[in-house]
Amino acid sequence: MSKPLTIADLKKMARRRVPKMFFDYADSGAWTESTYRANEEDFSKIKLRQRVLVDMTNRSLASQMIGHDVSMPVALAPTGLAGMQRADGEMLAAKAAEEAGVPFTLSTMSICSIEDIASVTTKPFWFQLYVMKDRGFIERLIERARVAKCSALVVTADLQILGQRHKDLRNGLSAPPKWTLNSAMQLATKPFWCLDMLQTKRRGFGNIVGHASNVSDLSSLSVWTAEQFDPRLSWSDIRWIKDLWGGKLIIKGILDEEDARAAADTGADAIIVSNHGGRQLDGAPSSISMLPKMVAAVGDRMEVHLDGGIRSGQDVLKAVALGAKGTYIGRPFLYGLGAMGKEGVTTALEIIRKEMDITMALCGKRDIKDVNSNVIAHNPF
Ligand code: FNR
Repeated sequence: MSKPLTIADLKKMARRRVPKMFFDYADSGAWTESTYRANEEDFSKIKLRQRVLVDMTNRSLASQMIGHDVSMPVALAPTGLAGMQRADGEMLAAKAAEEAGVPFTLSTMSICSIEDIASVTTKPFWFQLYVMKDRGFIERLIERARVAKCSALVVTADLQILGQRHKDLRNGLSAPPKWTLNSAMQLATKPFWCLDMLQTKRRGFGNIVGHASNVSDLSSLSVWTAEQFDPRLSWSDIRWIKDLWGGKLIIKGILDEEDARAAADTGADAIIVSNHGGRQLDGAPSSISMLPKMVAAVGDRMEVHLDGGIRSGQDVLKAVALGAKGTYIGRPFLYGLGAMGKEGVTTALEIIRKEMDITMALCGKRDIKDVNSNVIAHNPF
C-alpha cells in the first residue's frame, strides 16, 4: 500500500500485519458493538459552517490540557496490551507522542512498565490507574508513577467489571498467546509480527509482574488481574486516590450528568467523557452525543475531555467546538502501531493534525483557541 493518508488506511495495514486475536482485541467493542459504531457515526451528524474570504494564514493548533502545553488538543488514550500490536509498543508510542508534543497515557494493563516508559522519554507522561481490590498494590503503583514523574493520574471509573467482548472470547485472547491450533494458525500467517515479538522479553503485564501476590507465572497473573477489578469501587475511593496522589487528577469514563457533578465534587481537574470506546456498556450513547450535556453540567468547574470514535482531525475539531478542552485517540494510534510501529503512531498523529488544521482553516479560524460553537452549522445533540 502507498503512504497511508487516513486512519482507515492504517487500520487496513494493521489488519494485514497483526495476528487476528490482537487486531480484534484492539478493534472490537462489547456485545453487538452498537455503542462502538455510534461513537464513530455520530460525529458525521454534526455539520460545520463553511466560511470564505477570511485570512487563513499563520494558523495554530497549540493548546493546553489541564495546564500542560500541547501542540494540539489530542492525547494518546490508555490502552491495555498495546505492546501486543508491536513489540515494546507502549515505549514506541510514548516516544512518538513526545516528539509530536502530545501527552501519552500509559495503561495499568500495559506490556511495558512505568519504568520502561520513563527510561525512553524525557518529558513527563500520564499514568492511567485501574483501582484494583488489592489497595496495597494501588498504593505501590501510585508511588511508582510519582517516582517516574508522571504529571497526571487518569483514574478509570467505567471498568468495575469487565464488559464482554465476543470476539476476544471466540479468539481465545490471552497474553502471551496460548498454544492452541487456532492461535498457532493465526500466528503462522503473521511472520513479521512473530519475528518482531521474538526480539523482546516484554510480553506480560509489565506493571503487575513481580508486584502481585500469589502470582508465579503469566497465566496465574492473568487470572489474578481478572479477579482484581473492584465491583465495590466508589466515589470515596476516588477521593482517597486524589489525596494519596496529590497531583493532577483526571476521571475517565463519565457519561452521565449526575456522575459528572459527583466527579466535580471530588475536586478532580478533568473528566473524560467516555464509554471506553464502546467496550463496556453496549447500548450506552456515543461520547460525542453526551459531550454538550457534560459541558453544561460541569464545564465551569473542571475541564471536560472526550474520547471515543475520533477517526480524523475533523472529529477533534467538532469535539473542541462542542466544549472539549482535550481529546484522546485509542484505536487510531493502535492501528498505526500495528501497521508501522513508532512511525505509524507518528503518522496517525500527523494525519489528525493535518485534517484538524485544514478543517479549522475552511471554517474560517486561525487559532484552535477561537474554535467554539461558532463553527457549528448543525448539532443534533
Ligand atoms: C482501551 N481503553 C482502555 N481504557 C483504560 O482506561 N484503560 C485501559 O487499559 C484500556 N485499554 C484499552 C484497550 C484497547 C485495545 C482499546 C481500544 C481501548 C479505552 C481507551 O482508553 C479509550 O477510552 C478508547 O479507546 C477511546 O475510543 P477510540 O479512540 O478507540 O474509538
